[in-house]
Amino acid sequence: MKIILGPASTQLGQKIAEMLKAEAVNVAFKTFPDGENYVRLEGRVQDEEVAIVQTTSPPQDTRLVQLALMADAAKRNGAGKVAAVVPYLAYARQDTMFLHGEAISAQAVARMLSAAGVERLLTVNVHQEKVLAHFPFPAKSVSAVPLLAEYFIKRGLKKAFALSPDKGAIYIAEEAQKVLGGECGYLEKNRDRHTGQVTIRRKTFDIRGHPVIIFDDIISSGGTIVSAANILKELKPQRICVACVHPLLIGEAEQNILNAGVDEIIGTDSVPSSVSKVSLAPILSRALAS
Ligand code: R5P
Repeated sequence: MKIILGPASTQLGQKIAEMLKAEAVNVAFKTFPDGENYVRLEGRVQDEEVAIVQTTSPPQDTRLVQLALMADAAKRNGAGKVAAVVPYLAYARQDTMFLHGEAISAQAVARMLSAAGVERLLTVNVHQEKVLAHFPFPAKSVSAVPLLAEYFIKRGLKKAFALSPDKGAIYIAEEAQKVLGGECGYLEKNRDRHTGQVTIRRKTFDIRGHPVIIFDDIISSGGTIVSAANILKELKPQRICVACVHPLLIGEAEQNILNAGVDEIIGTDSVPSSVSKVSLAPILSRALAS
């Protein structure tokens, strides 16, 4: 297998190639003056199985188009099976028609990638795993939550309370709890479908003097974590840490979270950022090899 280093995930792609002892294929890319994208594979892929590593965090539309162009280039240049390794899968949150007249963007994006040449997809903590069942190719999501929890074990936070800011994501806190060995719980979150405004209902946990780690799949605007931290602070934990798989951290999100009393934020290199302290390379290379 050869690993194609997508422009959005060059470092992660390199690490995966090293772990698999696979050849890495560089990609030349540029943007034309009118905003259109160009890519060119700089190595040969004839008769090779390839995995294109390309996250689709913002600017997601550009990165999706680059991914589609790389898949097309791989197929056109004689590659065998083309896998897309997309740690952060853009548009995956709209997996249902919530309001009349909406699109199901997750499916639309998958069909676009399939048409371009993608034949298999590997992602990480996709927002709703059930969305993958409707993709036109085999798709799998692996979890980075144990890696995030292990980071805190190394930092001496064994038995920290694992909290999910949302009942629907309690499985994330439960997964972390298995590694941390403490307790877990969730808050009740509600998001207005029209305004996007998040409200989190107060709950009581026995965390006075204990470290708490809030686990979430995505931090985007940071609104969810800020609301959760504001509630937790009143319960007087020893410290509040935050772990997410996909640190999109739009605008002032990181600073707003720290201002809300959070001591440390960590994320993975799904989205390269100032908090990306955990690499996905081990779990992605393992999944690709299996
Ligand atoms: C939503 O259900 C996700 O799990 C995250 O909680 C959400 O995407 C975070 O968004 P934000 O940081 O904008 O509140």
